[in-house]
Amino acid sequence: MNRPVGIGIVGAGRIGTLRARLASRHAGVRFIAIADSDPAQARKAADLCGAAFHGTENATVIAHPEVDAVIVATSEGEHVAPLLQAIAARKPVLVEKPLALTLADADRVIDAAEAAAVDVRVGYSRRYKDRYLIAKEQVAKGRIGRVLGASARVYNSRAQALAMLGRNAHATPVVDALTYYVDLLAWFIDGEALSEVYARGQKGVLAAAGHAADDVDYALLTYADGTVVNLSVSYALPSQYPALGHAARVELIGDQGVMILDDDHTDQLMYSETGVPHVYLPDHQVNMVFLQSGTPGDWALGEFWGPIANETRAWLDHLVLGSPCVLPDLRTARATLEATLAIEASLALGAAVRLPLPA
Ligand SMILES: NC(=O)c1ccc[n+]([C@@H]2O[C@H](COP(=O)([O-])OP(=O)(O)OC[C@H]3O[C@@H](n4cnc5c(N)ncnc54)[C@H](O)[C@@H]3O)[C@@H](O)[C@H]2O)c1
Repeated sequence: MNRPVGIGIVGAGRIGTLRARLASRHAGVRFIAIADSDPAQARKAADLCGAAFHGTENATVIAHPEVDAVIVATSEGEHVAPLLQAIAARKPVLVEKPLALTLADADRVIDAAEAAAVDVRVGYSRRYKDRYLIAKEQVAKGRIGRVLGASARVYNSRAQALAMLGRNAHATPVVDALTYYVDLLAWFIDGEALSEVYARGQKGVLAAAGHAADDVDYALLTYADGTVVNLSVSYALPSQYPALGHAARVELIGDQGVMILDDDHTDQLMYSETGVPHVYLPDHQVNMVFLQSGTPGDWALGEFWGPIANETRAWLDHLVLGSPCVLPDLRTARATLEATLAIEASLALGAAVRLPLPA
């Protein structure tokens, strides 16, 4: 199969623009249209990727006759409306994580997509970071046997936290960041239902800056078959901490082996007198940096490399060539959303929360 496609991008901020630039470099993409509620943003992204059409009306881009598939990269709380528009137009979608902010919204999207038989994937780009793809291969090959327990932690600087909270005041490090590792570990464990969550957190610098978010959260997840997972997140590291994105560590204990995945990038250190711009925060600069620690990936010699590049190319290859794409479908992304909401509920209650949650 080799069917060139037209792509519509709704929400042309940092990630939407990156996806548009990657799509413009894909041999199977013959047309790009861009929509953003901010006309200046739409024009800027269109100029950067050579889009044939841009505007502020999402419906116009989604319904455009040259558009065969849609990328929804609006802010966290703005995914559902353009998603439902694309599904109604029977066009496949790649939507950024989290799928939605409530289970009710997620269920509306699932019902519409299943009724219209539309393929919707959710941008859990950690799956397309090389080390995690290769780790999944080992688990799938049974090389560590049955996963009995696992842990993952993700740290990031408070500069990133303030940018995230600036984008969405209700965002939390759990729903916005830990969600990647909830998805990743569920992918490694492969399909067991989550039955209970217990979580505790502590406030500090983010609260002092006027935000409700915790500085650090720890959660213990127990799955139906007894598998236990320990997750933690802190978006309160000092602003000048040398990681430009997620500083993570993932460990899996199987009954026939173990995997320890260091994703801190401390083995790639650069100190620059002139300073290093942040891949994600326009007015943020550091002197000491762990290279390749930017969450989406990095520009190098005119091309973009890393998780978002692998992910966007894999999804476009899936559309154009029919090749497999390992991104989660809607029901899997709903389970990840439910897990993060259960962690938030346990933090609020100070008690264990059993699943499923009421929708
Ligand atoms: N996969 C990753 O590595 C990754 C990294 C960062 C962010 N994200 C996710 O991507 C999404 C976007 O994040 P971002 O950092 O690009 O945010 P951003 O604020 O830079 O961009 C969002 C854009 O959407 C536009 N927008 C908002 N509501 C809209 C609407 N209803 N219709 C049309 N346009 C609308 C805004 O004008 C803005 O230009 C979020 O869901 C975020 O969680 C994913």
